[in-house]
Amino acid sequence: MAYLQTDVTKVTTRVLQNMKLHGEKIAMLTAYDYSMASLLESAKIDVVLVGDSAANVMEGHNTTLPITLDEMIIYATSVVRAVKRALVVVDMPFGTYQGNSKQALASAIRIMKETGADAIKMEGGEEILESVQRILSAGIPIMGHLGLTPQSINKFGTYAVRATDDEEAERLKKDALVLQEAGCFALVLEKIPARLAGEVSQSLKIPTIGIGAGGSTDGQVLVLQDMLGITQQFKPRYLRTYGTFGEDISHAIQHYISDVKSGDFPNEKEQY
Ligand code: KIV
Repeated sequence: MAYLQTDVTKVTTRVLQNMKLHGEKIAMLTAYDYSMASLLESAKIDVVLVGDSAANVMEGHNTTLPITLDEMIIYATSVVRAVKRALVVVDMPFGTYQGNSKQALASAIRIMKETGADAIKMEGGEEILESVQRILSAGIPIMGHLGLTPQSINKFGTYAVRATDDEEAERLKKDALVLQEAGCFALVLEKIPARLAGEVSQSLKIPTIGIGAGGSTDGQVLVLQDMLGITQQFKPRYLRTYGTFGEDISHAIQHYISDVKSGDFPNEKEQY
């Protein structure tokens, strides 16, 4: 049943579309550096997202707002060097597309030219339509992002589940259609009720990729450091961890310190 199982040498937006048609789920994870992106690539991940969650994970900010276009380009360039097969999508950071569609296009062009990535991702619906259209008209593929859009955290005032009331749910459904009509190739649905995410996924021709949006979306995404158990004190209900790498790394570092202090490292075989 796995459409991608055999010889897809490059995951493209068309491949993702075919995966939806064949009912094969899309697996997406974030990466911000060459080492981790190499591991994702050798595990044959479908999509690598250079998310603006780099602001939290790599830079220690409380929100995604402070990260700059220059910083995103550095992360994305390192990731692209490691990835041949997976589709690489790069987040447009806060402030680079919301106000002005010409600036939005210029930001998107910088990402595509300077990083070699395959596509960009933008948060929002109808309110960013002009920017979406202008970028698409330049031939740059866009992944949309609706629901809990972290760049709007100051408007929301909370990281709680979005679209739990009818009005916001209706708006989200409408925005999803607007983005599909405009030509977006896929849509991230973040932290919305599973039933709503299922309804939206069924109603769209383009694939949806969920995070905290239940099992009926066409794919799933998690932040790599969260699913590896590296991020500390972040345990939302939707997060499944696949390791305790935070603890493991910490133990390894403690072991190294103690070996250095005791003179055990390096031993005779570890010297010239
Ligand atoms: O920035 C990010 O990592 C994201 C995902 C959580 C979807 O946008």
